[in-house]
Amino acid sequence: MKNYKVGIIGATGMVGQRFITILSKHPWFHIEVLAASSRSAGKKYKDAVGAKWAMKEDIPESVADITVMDASADVDKIASLVDFVFCAVDMKKDEIKALEERYAKAECPVISNNSANRHTPDVPMIVPELNSEHSAIIDYQRKRLGTKRGFIAVKSNCSLQSYVPALFPLHEKYGVKDVLVCTYQAISGAGKTFETWPEILDNVIPYIGGEEEKSEIEPLKIWGKIEDGKIVPAKSPNFTAQCLRVPVSDGHMAAVFVRFEKKPTIEEIKKIWNEFEGYAQKANLPSAPKKFLNYFEEDNLPQTKLQRNLENGMAVSIGRLREDTQYDYKFVCLSHNTLRGAAGGGVLMAEQLCEQGYITTKFNW
Ligand SMILES: NC(=O)c1ccc[n+]([C@@H]2O[C@H](COP(=O)([O-])OP(=O)(O)OC[C@H]3O[C@@H](n4cnc5c(N)ncnc54)[C@H](OP(=O)(O)O)[C@@H]3O)[C@@H](O)[C@H]2O)c1
Repeated sequence: MKNYKVGIIGATGMVGQRFITILSKHPWFHIEVLAASSRSAGKKYKDAVGAKWAMKEDIPESVADITVMDASADVDKIASLVDFVFCAVDMKKDEIKALEERYAKAECPVISNNSANRHTPDVPMIVPELNSEHSAIIDYQRKRLGTKRGFIAVKSNCSLQSYVPALFPLHEKYGVKDVLVCTYQAISGAGKTFETWPEILDNVIPYIGGEEEKSEIEPLKIWGKIEDGKIVPAKSPNFTAQCLRVPVSDGHMAAVFVRFEKKPTIEEIKKIWNEFEGYAQKANLPSAPKKFLNYFEEDNLPQTKLQRNLENGMAVSIGRLREDTQYDYKFVCLSHNTLRGAAGGGVLMAEQLCEQGYITTKFNW
């Protein structure tokens, strides 16, 4: 059995709370440290998070009385107490970059949900089912940082966690040329609930800052190749995206239009989705869904409320595949934005990096 002590940086936030609910029952990872801003530091977790607790389940007893540490002031202390940290903080990009690098240089691996380091060329952005081999870049990053254990690995943006997995195995065989995608994104993606954001009820907001660029550019890093110590992003497929905020608590839906180099049949596409397995399934990682891509034949599925929690919110649901008049095909897909799209995806990536030996424990268990 593997055992690791972990810290959560940004533990009082929406993603941090998800990390807590997932990790409080995780077979390998044991929560040792919770950290947030100086506003929360020194308080018991249950008092620091207070009314911001947005999960359906209660705050786990095992963490309620932990004293929150200061994520910036206590870096060295936190690094000494844990094997690695998960990081999801709401700070300026350059501050996040600096903070993550401080942890890495303190020999503490960082599994990041933040966007600050997503385009750093030697920082892998891993979806364990798709590009697990990108972890090999960590050796180069450690050389740059001058570390033995420490490194940063990032999760991609939550918006693309449904359509990129659906397109990935199709691209390998049929060459995906052009993709037009419209996303319908939940309010938890903005760290909000209906209580904290009543204006979203009966409303749709046609703008999410920075999201369309991320939805178009980040997939190309996932499809990238390691060359000369860098991940060089792929040049294709060609993406265009519109991202809308909709009155949904959790779950990002995407409407996708796709054009191929070599057009497959509908049956060929469904077969590829049905049979697809990645590293996470082959290595039987604890948080991996048994079936990653799930196609629903019913015309009115997937629905956010019905499918977002499929396989603990780690599976992708797909439906409505049909011919299009301008592109080859169109379909919809759905994934849980704070589970697969954030904390759950971060935990799965950490499991991969432990399994591959990039994260080891320094404690005698
Ligand atoms: N929500 C999602 O679905 C989602 C998905 C993917 C990625 N992300 C990314 O994850 C990160 C966190 O998002 P969120 O939705 O969880 O945000 P959030 O709910 O606003 O939480 C922000 C967290 O950051 C902490 N924080 C703020 N200023 C800090 C500082 N100066 N030093 C240390 N900690 C500080 C807060 O601590 P206090 O409580 O003490 O202020 C809190 O724990 C963001 O980078 C976001 O882009 C979010």
